[in-house]
Amino acid sequence: MQDIGMAKKDSEATSDSGIEAKAGDANYEYVDIKDLEGVGATIASKIKNAGYADIIALATANPMDVAEVCEIGEPTARKIIAEAREAAKMNFLSGLEFEDKRKAVQRISTGSNALDILLGGGVETQSITECYGEFGSGKSQIAFQLAVNVQLAKEKGGLEGHTIWIDTEGTFRPARIEQLAISKGLDPKEALQNIKIGRAYSSDHQILLVDKIPELINKDPKIKLVVVDSMMALFRAEYVGRGTLADRQQKVNVILHNLQRLADRFNLAIYITNQVMARPDVMFGDPTVAVGGHIIGHVATYRVYLRKGKKGLRVAKLVDSPSLPEGEATFQISADGITDAEEESKRK
Ligand SMILES: Nc1ncnc2c1ncn2[C@@H]1O[C@H](COP(=O)(O)OP(=O)(O)OP(=O)(O)O)[C@@H](O)[C@H]1O
Ligand SMILES: [Mg+2]
Repeated sequence: MQDIGMAKKDSEATSDSGIEAKAGDANYEYVDIKDLEGVGATIASKIKNAGYADIIALATANPMDVAEVCEIGEPTARKIIAEAREAAKMNFLSGLEFEDKRKAVQRISTGSNALDILLGGGVETQSITECYGEFGSGKSQIAFQLAVNVQLAKEKGGLEGHTIWIDTEGTFRPARIEQLAISKGLDPKEALQNIKIGRAYSSDHQILLVDKIPELINKDPKIKLVVVDSMMALFRAEYVGRGTLADRQQKVNVILHNLQRLADRFNLAIYITNQVMARPDVMFGDPTVAVGGHIIGHVATYRVYLRKGKKGLRVAKLVDSPSLPEGEATFQISADGITDAEEESKRK
């Protein structure tokens, strides 16, 4: 699918924020797998189809695996991996450099102060934030709001940034973006122009779209947010029955690690949504659990459970975070988007 390739022209991309794209990863230079010595288009596509999204993934791959999936000899695979290692310039960071990298972390406001505070100041770059919850709980609405808010000035909770949106359920709604943009005083058409949408039709297609991200950022360094709405829908539909579960989880694992690498390298915020499924074994408390289970739990930096509250309110619970306490925040969804819950007295 080509839509997602429609990044802006290079001339526009060089305008300002190249510095920010680099701040997240001073050691990184974009090199496509096919440009490595000894790798043609055919081998490159085999490598990518096998789930090695970029040169870093290839650089850390096992030569025997690469030889097998690409149907090449092991010495050739070793040579290609060595090339990838050279191109990737994989260096260690000193503690100070690491601290500098952390200083480059930026945050996008969700629109609700309470929810921002719960997340430590908004949705963070260099991290994966996962929202899971039942239908209508607001997972996609938060994504719409973030894709608009990221475009705002920094003092208004944005990063003057653009978005890549991977839509696996066909639920992206341009009209909703326009509505939210107008409410924030943005030009609605421009706001839409700043979002690149890739519709994924299969889990393999979803993997390929994620692989496209470095190329898109190379063309448009203003990209600061990647949305995957939703992460598991296609996997869930395709992998039925327990026999294929390990295979499914392995692929999900590859996507999530690729996303995390991209977040680190380009200082991106990654926002993924996830469905829940019933857990018949739970007798007390909430009998639902996120699809994809432990795999996502191990990779996502922030996990937020959304549920519908009273009078149309939504309650977000921070389930997992490296440094923040567990807690809850209440917000509401209206025509104007995500905001703090109005006080009880003001509500109808
Ligand atoms: N324009 C709007 N004005 C007011 N509320 C809205 C508007 N658009 C959506 N909503 C609210 O958001 C809810 C839908 O939330 P959302 O689409 O984010 O759910 P979801 O968690 O992504 O669910 P699913 O699992 O079905 O994808 C609606 O039920 C409604 O309450
Ligand atoms: Mg949704």
